Amino acid sequence: MNEIDGKTKLLGLMGYPVEHTYSPQMHNYISKIYNRNYAYSALSVKPENLCDAIRGIVALNYAGVNVTAPHKEQVMQYLDFISEDARRYGSVNTVRVENGKLYGYNTDADGFYLSLLRGGIEIIGKDVLILGAGGAARPICVKFSLIGAKSVTVINRTQSRADELAEFVKNSCGKTILTSRAHSRYDVVINTTSVGMEPNVKECPLDDFSFVDSNTAAADMIYNPSETVFLKKMKEHGAYATVNGLGMLIYQGIVAYEIFTGEKIDHNIFDDIKREVFGL
Ligand code: ATR
Repeated sequence: MNEIDGKTKLLGLMGYPVEHTYSPQMHNYISKIYNRNYAYSALSVKPENLCDAIRGIVALNYAGVNVTAPHKEQVMQYLDFISEDARRYGSVNTVRVENGKLYGYNTDADGFYLSLLRGGIEIIGKDVLILGAGGAARPICVKFSLIGAKSVTVINRTQSRADELAEFVKNSCGKTILTSRAHSRYDVVINTTSVGMEPNVKECPLDDFSFVDSNTAAADMIYNPSETVFLKKMKEHGAYATVNGLGMLIYQGIVAYEIFTGEKIDHNIFDDIKREVFGL
């Protein structure tokens, strides 16, 4: 981040809670490297204040905000325009202010896909198994169906939520996803649940690893711990690649920064963010 002055453009993250976010450090680091006069902070917004807060960023002449839990769906009703992707995913994580109007986008699925590609994992033409049917699973189910996964299967503790997700995907993009394990094997297995996250690091969202071999890859949206029991077991069973959730966190931020500023960012900044922001 550069020194804040009278011309500094404001950005932030609206969520509740937001204290543990890395977004300010990531965005301010990119601004520093690109020598752009933006300042990004965490904005703690209770659900009952979301309407005032999001309208407030227009009044305060913000350049934009990221939006995180629990606001990603609720925020949509207050926006003037919503991108085709965000509409399809049913949630918004990036809002840009342009001439007093609010434009909504969602960079989560693109961020996750970029992180998979970076980890050597392709989705196109693959049988994909997704663990969990919550808000995190929705964008990737739609995106993977659209870009040409051979099949997308979602399994979830609560079967009705998996069925609801399949209906959502059908209505959103006309594609069919499966909600039970119909295949004997999968090319890519992705954990979107919170199972295995700190502090419950011993838990695992999958109990059958018998289909895993050296043609299987795994990804987890969790980044704390950096290697969940799920990823560890996938590796032990021969998976050729494993990717944790840090890449998604970084890439969704890079793509959001591009939306805020209208400027293309060299995605090789990924490694610099990893080192300078996360110390890895
Ligand atoms: P969101 O708010 O994003 O929708 P969520 O409701 O916390 O997220 O759900 C996250 C996912 O993790 C869900 O698929 C949830 O399964 P249920 O639909 O059955 O609740 C899954 N999940 C969370 N804790 C779990 C656990 N202990 N075992 C299995 N799945 C779990």
